[in-house]
Amino acid sequence: MKKQVLSLLMAGVMAFSLMGCTSSGNNGPQSASTKQQETSAKDSSKQVSKTVSAGNKVGISMPTKTLERWNRDGSYLENKFKEAGHEVLITYSDNKIDQQVKDIEGLIADNVNLLIVAAIDGESLSQVLNQAKEKNIPVVAYDRLIMNTDAISYYISFDNYKVGTIQGEFIKNKLDLDNAGDKKYNIELTCGDPADNNAKFFFGGAIDVLKPYIDKGILVVPSGQTEFEQCGTAQWDTSKALSRFQNILGSYYSDGKVLDAALCSNDSTALGVTQALSSDYAGTNEVIITGQDGDEPNLANIIDGKQSMTVYKAVANEAIATLSLGEAILKGETVDASLIEKAKWSFEASYNTESYDNGTGKIPSFLLVPVAVTKENIQKELIDTGYYTMGSDGYPHPVN
Ligand code: BGC
Repeated sequence: MKKQVLSLLMAGVMAFSLMGCTSSGNNGPQSASTKQQETSAKDSSKQVSKTVSAGNKVGISMPTKTLERWNRDGSYLENKFKEAGHEVLITYSDNKIDQQVKDIEGLIADNVNLLIVAAIDGESLSQVLNQAKEKNIPVVAYDRLIMNTDAISYYISFDNYKVGTIQGEFIKNKLDLDNAGDKKYNIELTCGDPADNNAKFFFGGAIDVLKPYIDKGILVVPSGQTEFEQCGTAQWDTSKALSRFQNILGSYYSDGKVLDAALCSNDSTALGVTQALSSDYAGTNEVIITGQDGDEPNLANIIDGKQSMTVYKAVANEAIATLSLGEAILKGETVDASLIEKAKWSFEASYNTESYDNGTGKIPSFLLVPVAVTKENIQKELIDTGYYTMGSDGYPHPVN
């Protein structure tokens, strides 16, 4: 009942509110931190945060709170849309596909005007998103492409292939593979969740850099697990990456073989691999380990020399870009490359209409730019930019 009254009110003020919507050029996370956080800490569709406002009603569906970054994404998105005067309903689905379908159904039933969805499984949302399409609710695929549905208007993410090339280049440069001479190096590969369309892009970018050296025999993969399907980590789960890597170490390195590098597609998998190395690896060399996201435990490991790098993606900026995109869609504007100019983002982004085909056609995409972060540039890239503060414990902590 209350909701119906609210909907009427919302409809009445919508035209007015849309005139007042502007996209932000703020690059840092500071303004995102100014708003209260009303969402419950639990993963549940019932934990919906609502604010009555004069704007549109925006439904945000995040995968889970158990992987660190989605908490940051959720909170930045919620704050950005609320600051712009919109009502926000946000759900986290505990990495459960059925739960996410229910959560999205709930958001549709709540008559949201816009859906922003980071899919758990890119292949499983076609049906529920058809319901959105029937109700003319535009859908933005957030960070992860949603497959096999024409209900998606746009995709917003980082350049996922570039994430992988940054990781591959890091390993190539660290081992100085172009000047390896007769030397051979051992490497193992850990990829992300095969249900996440991004995972293939990360792996593709990295393997395109590393494969020529594998083919020449400069890089050797003792486990023989070089295919994406063999290296996957369901749900990007740290404990699954840990046990797979313990098996690899037990089976191929127990004879004292040296592991030189571990390509890990992101930080949650890197954490498992690092744990496996500390418990099950006899070698004393510093193994090169890549990652992605700038998760807190991984940044601590980078400071402590247990992880070599992470690829940082400023999700605060991804939220700003999503707000600009969402508001342009809600205003019925033609959205194309010109949005980047109009929105006056103070960060780099590109408009891409070629790379992301979801099975129904190419989805126009806005892609932000990832950066490599190591111990040497943590201060410059993460602290000086305001995304993290350096704690009195000597480790960076996210600001949001
Ligand atoms: C995101 C990564 C993240 C992974 C696991 C991917 O879709 O792009 O940043 O590490 O999911 O949460």
